[in-house]
Amino acid sequence: MGRDVIIACDFSSAEDTLSFLDKFQDVKPFVKIGMELFYAAGPQMVKEIKKRGHKIFLDLKLHDIPNTVKKAMKVLSNLDVDICNCHAAGTGRMMEAALEGATRPDGTRPLVIAVTQLTSTDQETMEKDILIEKPIDEVVMSYAMTAKNAGLDGVVCSPLEAGKVHDKCGKDFLTITPGVRFADGDIGDQKRVMTPAEAKKIGSDFIVVGRPITQAEDPVAAYKRCCDEFID
Ligand code: C5P
Repeated sequence: MGRDVIIACDFSSAEDTLSFLDKFQDVKPFVKIGMELFYAAGPQMVKEIKKRGHKIFLDLKLHDIPNTVKKAMKVLSNLDVDICNCHAAGTGRMMEAALEGATRPDGTRPLVIAVTQLTSTDQETMEKDILIEKPIDEVVMSYAMTAKNAGLDGVVCSPLEAGKVHDKCGKDFLTITPGVRFADGDIGDQKRVMTPAEAKKIGSDFIVVGRPITQAEDPVAAYKRCCDEFID
């Protein structure tokens, strides 16, 4: 799988999602389905989007005991998704179990990606609430190395961290980066953002773009603009 733009389909119903995807006739973008849509519309939604010819990143961020994660991953992998994920905080053993569960009987599997430290957590909260006292970028890099050693394919991280992750874990270790905005666009509630062109320059493998596409007057044009800046 080469570099690509993934649209975050942060909608709360199947109806809204499918009417958004109906706008795309000649291209079938890679889409991200998160907890909100999955809990609302379930596996049927995944099957329907897959049937329409889209690749799917199922962003459910599993985190539980290894045996439970393995079994849950098996169910998700059987939906024929292309990328799924779990929390690196679940430990290396849990990530190995995720990988085992994701591997289908024929040996194929979706890419399995680790969530490191959520960007909603800052240094102060990490120290106070979960008693992690190392600098946050060290914590993120340590999670990335644990994920790599467990055999995972990459991490979700800020585009600002993508270069560093590649330096530490190798250029084939994938970085999936949200927090992308057009140079002339609204940044909304994202704090540290990059344009698609900057994300390309720093070496992101996939960018996850939500509102700059889903809320655009012309979503198809916004998607194509993202692809032009990031892929070509
Ligand atoms: O609308 P926007 O482009 O900000 O959407 C970004 C997507 O990436 C959302 O689905 C959001 O939940 C997700 N995400 C993020 N920051 C993270 C992890 C995931 O924005 N650190």
